[in-house]
Amino acid sequence: MSVKSVRNICCIGAGYVGGPTMSVIAAHCPYIEVNVVDINEKRIRDWNSPNLNDLPIFEPGLDKLIAKCRDVNLFFSTNVESCIASADVIFISVNTPIKKKGLGAGFTSDLKWVESSARQIAKFSEGHTIVVEKSTLPVKTAETIKNILDASVEARTDSLDNQQNKTYSIISNPEFLAEGTAITNLENPDRVLIGGEDMQAIELISDIYKNWVAPEKIITTNIWSSELSKLVANAFLAQRISSINSISALCEATGANIQEVSIAVGTDTRIGNEFLNSGPGFGGSCFKKDILNLVYLCRYYGLSEVANYWENVVRINSWQQNRISKLIIKNLFGTLSDKRIAILGFSFKANTNDTRESPSINISKDLLLEDAKLCIYDPKVSKDKIFGEFEEMHGKDSLKVCESAYEACKEADAVILLTDWIEFKNLDWNKIFIDMRKPAWVFDTRILLNKKYLNQLGFKVWTLGSS
Ligand code: UDX
Ligand code: UDX
Repeated sequence: MSVKSVRNICCIGAGYVGGPTMSVIAAHCPYIEVNVVDINEKRIRDWNSPNLNDLPIFEPGLDKLIAKCRDVNLFFSTNVESCIASADVIFISVNTPIKKKGLGAGFTSDLKWVESSARQIAKFSEGHTIVVEKSTLPVKTAETIKNILDASVEARTDSLDNQQNKTYSIISNPEFLAEGTAITNLENPDRVLIGGEDMQAIELISDIYKNWVAPEKIITTNIWSSELSKLVANAFLAQRISSINSISALCEATGANIQEVSIAVGTDTRIGNEFLNSGPGFGGSCFKKDILNLVYLCRYYGLSEVANYWENVVRINSWQQNRISKLIIKNLFGTLSDKRIAILGFSFKANTNDTRESPSINISKDLLLEDAKLCIYDPKVSKDKIFGEFEEMHGKDSLKVCESAYEACKEADAVILLTDWIEFKNLDWNKIFIDMRKPAWVFDTRILLNKKYLNQLGFKVWTLGSS
């Protein structure tokens, strides 16, 4: 049995990946009904909010797509059962965090949400269904999904009250969007990767993308190559950041300047200039998780040298965050007790409200452990989300979330700039200086501010990657 053409898509998981991806598909495929379902009722309510400022995720350009497609051919609901039943294609876009306990804890992904999605599909789907892995997953997850689906079909053949013939094709179609530029990335991807064994299913998924993506950008592979390529792409990107961050420390020690080195190195066309911005370490839900999945996979297959090689990318990342915390403490006379510190930026990068693995979290925690009083400001991250990151921490009474950068910096001893929001560059730094305690420090971990100008205003300035 097979699907002849795709008319109805269901996406399980209305998160940072599912929401934007389905919005772009709906916008380009008016003939397809796209249903995004989620178990989180509040999230779905927010997706359906008449006020587009209340959408659960912030992504430039997303509001326009929602205004155009929502309730036309794009629907957000908690109707998991009926949306699965009517779908020709089901995208699984649920979260896959690192396992906290048990086998592979700290390294491999917790697949419980993927597994429960597969079980729901097995239960509610009708006829032939193409199941697409959109979440980033450990290699061989497709096999797990297939086993669950096959087991349910076998169980049903014996059952007299359910004779309908369910069949499945499993496809891997990893998403390469980066948060903050998700809509642009989806509209104009470098490539679309589709892995699988069923050529007809691959064709049908390709046809969806061909509505706006040039056919030569669509790469098809076997399913394991597709799953692995996603991990490897993220590992390579993260490796560049760890490489440049490791050199930032050497620049500080030698008098070289990391931005100058980045430009000099990146203009070699073989190297390229992207992902060479030194900073407080990479954050986001994918890089660390995907590298650790890769490490786990290598160890599983006995490739310990390969595993160790990639694990060091993550180690350098933690080291970079840790050395920044230490450096702040050292410059502030070795103690933060009762010092007021402004944290500018809490999201893991600019133009998103996502805080997963944000360097701001670890650095803030290090400073709280030194008894600092933190005043945090981020243009898009909500108060609740910020407080949520410190839930299990003592000393969170020393935490204040502010409405503006000026409020956060008032009477502070130091400002730590941690996210590259452009508004921080355009602040009235003279006003901030006047309102701060002296000596007034700025620690610029994103190399965003003009050090010379800040020095002229009277600030003491530490900028990453230069002496
Ligand atoms: C994505 C990818 O899918 C993940 O593999 C990657 O590592 C990070 O990016 P993302 O969209 O960012 O995940 O996750 P999130 O914003 O947490 O959204 C996942 C959604 O799935 C949540 O809204 C959650 O409520 C929903 N969900 C989870 C279900 O609807 N059903 C479930 O069974 C589990
Ligand atoms: C990443 C991948 O880019 C994307 O392809 C994949 O689908 C998901 O993971 P994302 O994590 O959303 O996307 O953002 P990205 O732009 O890659 O940034 C990740 C982190 O690296 C951020 O903390 C960012 O600030 C940091 N970064 C990025 C640097 O420190 N320097 C750089 O030069 C680039």
